[in-house]
Amino acid sequence: MSSPATAPFTRLHLSAAPGEARLLADWYATGRPATLNDHLTRYGPAPVAAALGGRGSMPLVEAVEAARLTGRGGAGFPTARKLRAVAEHRGRAVVVVNAMESEPASRKDQFLSAVAPHLVLDGAVLAAAAVGADTVHVCLPRDRSAQYRQLSAALDERRRARLDLVRLRLHALPHTYVSSESTSLVRWLNGGPAQPQGSPPRTHERGVDRRPTLVNNAETLAHLALIARYGPDWYRQAGTPDEPGTTLVTVSGAVAAPSVLEAALGTPMTTLLARAGEPTEPLRAVLLGGFAGTWLPTAHLDTPLARRDLAPLGAAPGAGVLVALPRAACGLSETARMLTYLAAHSARQCGPCRLGLPAVAEDFTALAVGRADPGLLAQLRHRTGLLPDRGACRHPDGAARLAASALRAFADDVDHHLAHGPCLATDQPPRIPIPPATPPETWR
Ligand SMILES: Cc1cc2nc3c(=O)[nH]c(=O)nc-3n(C[C@H](O)[C@H](O)[C@H](O)COP(=O)(O)O)c2cc1C
Ligand code: SF4
Repeated sequence: MSSPATAPFTRLHLSAAPGEARLLADWYATGRPATLNDHLTRYGPAPVAAALGGRGSMPLVEAVEAARLTGRGGAGFPTARKLRAVAEHRGRAVVVVNAMESEPASRKDQFLSAVAPHLVLDGAVLAAAAVGADTVHVCLPRDRSAQYRQLSAALDERRRARLDLVRLRLHALPHTYVSSESTSLVRWLNGGPAQPQGSPPRTHERGVDRRPTLVNNAETLAHLALIARYGPDWYRQAGTPDEPGTTLVTVSGAVAAPSVLEAALGTPMTTLLARAGEPTEPLRAVLLGGFAGTWLPTAHLDTPLARRDLAPLGAAPGAGVLVALPRAACGLSETARMLTYLAAHSARQCGPCRLGLPAVAEDFTALAVGRADPGLLAQLRHRTGLLPDRGACRHPDGAARLAASALRAFADDVDHHLAHGPCLATDQPPRIPIPPATPPETWR
């Protein structure tokens, strides 16, 4: 069964743990994108009145808090805290749906907005009611015309059905790695470049049109739509007690069926690989979380996909990305290419992105191709250590996490490259698809 927007992630495993499917339940049941009619038949309209605290109901913010929903855009921030922060500010608020999915190894938001667009939009409408917003901005990258058409059609269906009391607007933004950061969206919506703002005021205080603004990932909002309908107790039936619920995961690399899967939080990574058709070759490592994520050696594959279990390994689920790297590939070369891409896609506004990140990418490339001098490793560690906590956004922090984890996970290869030059795997074709490492043509 193939998806309309996710090549090469074209297969879904209908047999795998269908009981865990929530966001993708309709897709598992029918194998086709849900129209508004399908959606209303299955779920009914978004319970906006109940979200506001109608008789006998639990207001949405409390329900989301009790469900312990966390953001699926990468950082895992508690969603109720954000809702509350925006709701508590005076003035009409704005909701921004972050459907940009700039992470190159992720397809989950594209997949979700293709097959269940109305769950995402319901979530946005419900969040708008909860924070007192009259406008919802849905943000997509400009070069994903299929995704734009699908969401545009879904919005038309809702308009024709006069379903929503808030204004829903679709926007196509420049596609760069950092233009999907929350303050980049706000800056672009305010007429500026799609680059991180960095400095205060914070978005929840003064964002789009100087109004309190809630920015949430598309998947987060879809979970919220289900919590509004079925309640926190239902939500907590999946996942772990600390981290309840399901999450979307994009599994790719050396697996038989690269897939977007829905899995309960706490599912071991080996199970996720099995659901993507099992590894096709012996593995060297997995990349967890995305380009701003962490390399983990295969010894850790039984670890559950949950923040609590991954934290001791210096890892986190991030944006729900799992890439299987085969033993035949060179982890150092793959990392060098990713760092070069991340360096090219920074906004070059702050020191760590202008100077530090390109220097780390160059050092890594030298290490990967075996041009390393004896002082290189110490220099690389030092420069990597200088990246976090110094930028106006978390972009350099993510790159530092990737670089540091590669030095740990591929420590034997580092020694080999330093002592003998590149290994045979260095000449292998790249295994992780990487967009061109050229700076964006436009930020507007
Ligand atoms: C460089 C960078 C890129 C980001 N890209 C995305 C993205 O593509 N999609 C997304 O939802 N969040 C992205 N984020 C996180 C957002 O800034 C923000 O935290 C998120 O949209 C909040 O939604 P959530 O709380 O529902 O996760 C990115 C952050 C950084 C630092
Ligand atoms: S840290 Fe980098 S990406 Fe973030 S605002 Fe500064 S220059 Fe831009």
